[in-house]
Amino acid sequence: MITIDFDFAGVCEKEEMQTLEKELLSSHNLILNATGEGGEFLGWRDLPLSNENILEIKDIASCIKKNSDVLVVIGIGGSYLGARAVIEALSSSFDSLISKRDNPLILYAGENLSEDYMVDLLEVLKERDYSLCVISKSGTTTEPALAFRILKRALEEKYGEEGAKDRIITITDKEKGVLRLLSEENGYKSFEIKDDVGGRFSVLTPVGLLPIAVAGFDVEAMMQGAKEMREVLIDDKSMSNPAWKYAGFRNVLYSKGKKTDAFLCYQPTLQYFARWWQQLFGESEGKNGKGLFPVCLLNTTDLHSMGQYIQDGERLMFETILQVKNANKQIEIPYDEDNKDGLNYLLSHSLNQINQVALQAARKAHISGGVPQFTVSVETINEKILGALLYFFEFACVLSAYTLKVNPFNQPGVEAYKNNMFDLLGKNK
Ligand code: PA5
Repeated sequence: MITIDFDFAGVCEKEEMQTLEKELLSSHNLILNATGEGGEFLGWRDLPLSNENILEIKDIASCIKKNSDVLVVIGIGGSYLGARAVIEALSSSFDSLISKRDNPLILYAGENLSEDYMVDLLEVLKERDYSLCVISKSGTTTEPALAFRILKRALEEKYGEEGAKDRIITITDKEKGVLRLLSEENGYKSFEIKDDVGGRFSVLTPVGLLPIAVAGFDVEAMMQGAKEMREVLIDDKSMSNPAWKYAGFRNVLYSKGKKTDAFLCYQPTLQYFARWWQQLFGESEGKNGKGLFPVCLLNTTDLHSMGQYIQDGERLMFETILQVKNANKQIEIPYDEDNKDGLNYLLSHSLNQINQVALQAARKAHISGGVPQFTVSVETINEKILGALLYFFEFACVLSAYTLKVNPFNQPGVEAYKNNMFDLLGKNK
């Protein structure tokens, strides 16, 4: 379902990756035997094996589809990025402008604290029927908690307290946190996030699946894709395992002084997939003074902004390229008899083929600029392939983090700003 290819651009020899073989084996065993740091958070590993909750997810999704034009997903970090990555990858770039729709529009809240954003969102919701899906594993994160308070009040004003209850779905810890308490007191429809699945690894649980199902996409196909990818990765303890290749590639280059992994995609609809990848790797590896800095770039747009630096600036980065070979939609480039713009020479190509040529051209240029590249190619974008890609990157990320000798599953650094914020706002005074 995915093919991979990599080029060290002369920074080191392919054979040098073999030096990590023993470490990759030991990281792989930590995943299989749950004996590494954070081993109690390996629930993501087997999620594709069970379709638990799928029927309930589909049921609730069809209720929301019947009574809502919009579903507001309230969550931050791992509690919204997976859903948004998949929904945007499968939707029109102009989804929010499409008025005749078969499925509710998904909007997001609680992933920022902007007052302007919230007022604009409330304005848009006034005119529409909507439901809220609030997602927080801890149930205590400030941004989504505050957004939920504001949006819940607006929902109650529109539908009455009882009516609002039928339009709220919570996804949170099975017993801890305020959100669980509120769900029980008010009888909201609710899903549990299992103890052994951390936020950024939760896209294949109701956290990701419910919003994706409401948006009209096939969650079973997605789980199937993840399952097939799991079969490829789980038992192959060798350098032919694509996750070993990615984890090995990243770690060898890190040991050679590379500091940045730049994720490139060539479709605007994949920008949130890139952001999901960025959070996955950034939060899993960036700790103890270590870790590659993950950044996301959208080409060809960024070839005209960051291309200069990549080609010619400080040699600190390598690239992870997500290549989608085929477009899902087609348009013909019009023939122009006058050809004053001189573009008739492109008529034998489709727009997508020209995009692919741009990708090859940038690869060639960056290789000549000494920028190593790891390319993950897929034929197209659909639910099954996205499921496979999500699982591939999760597995490779944990493998890579263990090889770097960090715990992939904690995020102690996120606490520092939270505590400062509580102090500055006078919480608990
Ligand atoms: O990956 C993670 O654990 C984090 O990004 C969390 O998802 C994020 O901080 C939100 O936390 P919560 O779901 O508890 O509100």
